Amino acid sequence: MKILVMNGPNLNLLGEREPSVYGDNSLEAINERLKTQAENAGAEIDFYQSNHEGAIIDKLHEARTEFDYVILNAGAYTHYSYAIRDAIAAIKIPVIEVHLSNVHSRDEFRHKSVISPVCKGVIAGFGEQSYVLALNYALTDKF
Ligand code: DQA
Repeated sequence: MKILVMNGPNLNLLGEREPSVYGDNSLEAINERLKTQAENAGAEIDFYQSNHEGAIIDKLHEARTEFDYVILNAGAYTHYSYAIRDAIAAIKIPVIEVHLSNVHSRDEFRHKSVISPVCKGVIAGFGEQSYVLALNYALTDKF
């Protein structure tokens, strides 16, 4: 089992960025926690972050032959990137959409996700545990 955890724009600033919304932990600290979780389950895990739409699309294409699962926090692209949505639809591996914050309790523009219809499921609102829960699902999914 090989899992890729992908993060989109501004998530490299976790810990500094609006901590009351996104928490105090850095992306590195969250990824360390996920690495331990995956390794304890005997799975391989890799991490990718980019602030660029095209780079995220390239990585999704690459992932289709290298990974069994993708966990994706697409950041604000979630709400309007039809290109990322099409990339997810184009690849056969399951993608789990995650958000640290409860996007439905925030600004109106965050209520809509254009990627949800092509993702396997969505986990939002549990802070860094959103990733932990998504990873737990991927690790225990028997397909
Ligand atoms: C986010 C929610 C998005 O609306 C926002 O643009 C982000 C982070 C989250 O993890 O809560 O960058 O995806």
